[in-house]
Amino acid sequence: MAEVTPELPPIVNNSLKVKAVTYHSYKTPLTTKEVEIPVTPGSIVKPTELLVQVKGTSINPVDCVFKGMNYGCLGPENKIIGGDFSGIVVKAGLETKFKPGDKIFGDVMSVTRRGSSSEYILFEPATAQVCELIPEGMTFEQAASLPVVSGTAYQCLYSYKGSLEGSNVLVLGSGTSVGTYAVQFAKRYFKAAKVVATCSAGSAEKTRKGGADVIVDYTKGKNEKVNHILEFVKEHGKFDIIVDAVRDEDLFSYFPHVLKPVSENGLFCQVQGSYTIDYSDVHLYQFLPSWKKIVSTLKYKLGFSNYLIESILVENTKGYGNAIRTLWANHELNIPIDSVYDAYSEAQSGFERVASGKAKGKVVLKF
Ligand SMILES: NC(=O)c1ccc[n+]([C@@H]2O[C@H](COP(=O)([O-])OP(=O)(O)OC[C@H]3O[C@@H](n4cnc5c(N)ncnc54)[C@H](OP(=O)(O)O)[C@@H]3O)[C@@H](O)[C@H]2O)c1
Repeated sequence: MAEVTPELPPIVNNSLKVKAVTYHSYKTPLTTKEVEIPVTPGSIVKPTELLVQVKGTSINPVDCVFKGMNYGCLGPENKIIGGDFSGIVVKAGLETKFKPGDKIFGDVMSVTRRGSSSEYILFEPATAQVCELIPEGMTFEQAASLPVVSGTAYQCLYSYKGSLEGSNVLVLGSGTSVGTYAVQFAKRYFKAAKVVATCSAGSAEKTRKGGADVIVDYTKGKNEKVNHILEFVKEHGKFDIIVDAVRDEDLFSYFPHVLKPVSENGLFCQVQGSYTIDYSDVHLYQFLPSWKKIVSTLKYKLGFSNYLIESILVENTKGYGNAIRTLWANHELNIPIDSVYDAYSEAQSGFERVASGKAKGKVVLKF
């Protein structure tokens, strides 16, 4: 899906001068500034690099973490917010699989690299967590909202050893963006027999549309939630995989009743992060594993338990692009977007929307 290649931005002293949404320290707001991106003299890109004109980015809770953890003394003074992006390839190194004019989306999130929210980005697709062609007909906004959350959801399910076809899947927190895609991938791509999901009434319709067979309202309290899940298991059997997008550890003591053991490939997959974290005021200790998780993991390692808790951090996962393209082509991919903000004038509002934890779907910055 090539289209007219965008013009190169001005290059002065072997650097691109581009507008970017930057942050400095923990308490300062996002600010639009001109930053310099050093390029390779002559060819601009190295054989392994892409130069991309950015059309959209999206903000994730992890961006709040990066900003919250930046006390102004590490790395460049002006860091660029974001990892997720969509855009058009301007220059493509010969060793990449892309060409100028390609519309792509991806995730370049890294503590050591520049973020994605700038007019142009220069990066190595091989080291990005996600870098894929945008499927025909998908907008830049939709594509920018996908990478981290859908990539994490895909990775959880992909990490299951064996086939998920005909399996029972439980998604804890289908109201989250990660959970939204976990439900869709489980039911429609990995062909699970039954998908059970926990969410509030406000996210029930989205979850049902995504393919969930049973919805458990977590707002009714632990006992009601656990009983509802146990009822399902009585009728349909134990779960093959539990994807936990919200660090809900209420089921840990019920593992033998709800989850198949490791010897039968049973897996509890927990994404790093938690609904208990206040993303408007992030502290490192909030990311420490809970004592429940430490005890459970120790018991497994020492051979006293047959239930494994896997922690997932988004990374480049085989087959992800195919999964997205397949669901999109079949009109089976629901992409909830909470709000779209102008990148240069409204980025701080978008950031605050994510930090508030109230967003229902992704917050996108438009370039
Ligand atoms: N490890 C990684 O690579 C990675 C990648 C992406 C995200 N994450 C982490 O995963 C978590 C989810 O991220 P996200 O961007 O998908 O979140 P999000 O979209 O901001 O999720 C917010 C939603 O969580 C739901 N929720 C809150 N408390 C819940 C509970 N006790 N049980 C069930 N659902 C609850 C609410 O939905 P309803 O009340 O409407 O149901 C709320 O709307 C975050 O902590 C994030 O840091 C990690």
